[in-house]
This record gives sequence, structure tokens and C-alpha cells, in this order.
Amino acid sequence: MTTYDSLTTASLLPRAEARALLEHASGRRREWLIAHGDEEAPEAVAAAFAELARRRRAGEPLAYLVGWREFHGRRFEVCEGILIPRADTEVAVRWACSVAAQRGRVLDLGTGSGAIAVSLALERPDLAVEATDVSPVAVEVAARNAQALGASALRVRQGNWYAALDEDERFDLIVANPPYLAADDPHLALGDLRHEPASALTDGADGLRALAAIVAGAAARLRAGGWLGVEHGWTQGAAVRTLLANAGFGKVRTLRDDEDRDRLTVGQAPAAPAQAG
Ligand SMILES: C[S@@+](CC[C@H](N)C(=O)[O-])C[C@H]1O[C@@H](n2cnc3c(N)ncnc32)[C@H](O)[C@@H]1O
Repeated sequence: MTTYDSLTTASLLPRAEARALLEHASGRRREWLIAHGDEEAPEAVAAAFAELARRRRAGEPLAYLVGWREFHGRRFEVCEGILIPRADTEVAVRWACSVAAQRGRVLDLGTGSGAIAVSLALERPDLAVEATDVSPVAVEVAARNAQALGASALRVRQGNWYAALDEDERFDLIVANPPYLAADDPHLALGDLRHEPASALTDGADGLRALAAIVAGAAARLRAGGWLGVEHGWTQGAAVRTLLANAGFGKVRTLRDDEDRDRLTVGQAPAAPAQAG
């Protein structure tokens, strides 16, 4: 007899992964599967699970196989063509939540699944959060996540960084997790990254091109004293601090992730010059 438990054991996958795939194949919740592990699994469930397990062993990302990834305590829909949100990015959410002005306008550039924008909108319902992405798939998925998770006021627009916005739009805080791997970064050939969209991972150059474009355009889009925060690779902290300082930002510093690596560089736009007279 093929039980639910024997399926997960025979899959040779880590238990948590096997359980997530079995949840997906059976349509049963985790708690149900734990309580009924010694029961016989229907043939169709066993077959669907075996196929998912085969694809996982072949290296397909778990998040794409089950169609979601947890970020900041919530399940975000993901699919091929969308970056799988990473726990490292929670640094950006925590920072933005802590510095965003009450009832401020916030912009998430390159929103992907909407992980940052939706989390911010839900953690800080006083904020007006806007999001953009150049990828039409990302715009669709982020909008669906916003709706499904209860951030229905979040607007997601398509376009190249700031070009997605109206000319006169200004924000109190801009946050972005842009593609920051160099085109020849060997990590692109490893693990989940092999399956994720290259346009979400690399700028096709030295890894600083998208970061530089976002920093260069930020001052014109921020209100006086507004904040910019950009995520980057752990070796890019010094270079990104220089980008912000050269663009006139003050209070520039780099925050570290849970593994104590440089992850998010932030800075404040200058206050408006005093009125003459
Ligand atoms: C590293 S992913 C981040 C996704 C999401 N913010 C997150 O943290 O999970 C970078 C995102 O930037 C988007 N992107 C890349 N180039 C862009 C551009 N020129 N303008 C707007 N978005 C862009 C990609 O489509 C991708 O969704």
C-alpha cells in the first residue's frame, strides 16, 4: 500500500520540500497530511506527486512547482518569469516600515511578485504604495498578489524604472531590489537562479548599472527629506554608498541582512533649500 508518508520518504527529497509538493499534489493541508500520513494515497495523487518530485530532483525551483513562496509571513504567488522573493529582501521591508513618514507615498521599483510593495501596504496601511516593473508578467502577478492578500489599493504599473510614472509624481520613500548580479556572475548558473528570469537577476553589465539608474533618477522623484533604499549584493555596499553620496544623498549607510552581510544601502534626499527672503 502506498501511504502519504511512504510517498514523501521514497521521494528522497528533504522532508519539508516533499511535504510542500504533496500538499500541492493532493490539495490537502499540511496538518491533514500529518494526521493521515498512514492512509493510502489515491493513485492520481501518487502519480502527480511522483512527477513533481522528479522535477524537483532535476533542479526546478520548489516555488515554481507549488506556485508560491512565503515572504515576510505571507504566501506570494510566483511562476516562471517572476523572481522568487528571498528572505534577504525582508531587510528592505523592515527598513521602509520604520522610516516611512505617516501617510507617506511610497514607490517600489521593480516589484516582481509585489513582495516588498504588498508587505509594506499591509504592514503600514497608512501609506499609499505604488509599484512598477518592466515585465508585464510581474505587473499581472503583483496585482494578483495585492488583491489576494488584501492590499487592493496598491497600484502596479508597467515601464522602465521611473518612466512608468506620471511626470509630476513625487514620493516620500523609494525602495528597490533591482537586478544586481554582473552578467558573468557564476551564481547565475547555479540552483534556482538557472530557472529565474535573467532580466530580474542581472543588468547584463557589471551589476551596478540598474542600481546607478535608480539612484540617478531618485532625487527628482523624492520630496524634500525623502528616503531611498536599494538592495544590492553583499560585495557592493561601498560602491552603492558612493553612488548615493555622489547623487547628493545624506545619512548614507548600509544595513546588513540576517547573515550579517551588506544588503541595503539607504540615504536621505536633501531638505528643500530655504525660501529666499
Ligand atoms: C531582483 S528582482 C526583484 C523583485 C521583487 N522586488 C523582489 O524583491 O522579490 C528585480 C525586478 O526588477 C525588474 N526590472 C528589471 N529591469 C527593470 C527596468 N528597467 N525597469 C523596471 N523594472 C525592471 C525585473 O522584472 C524584476 O521583477
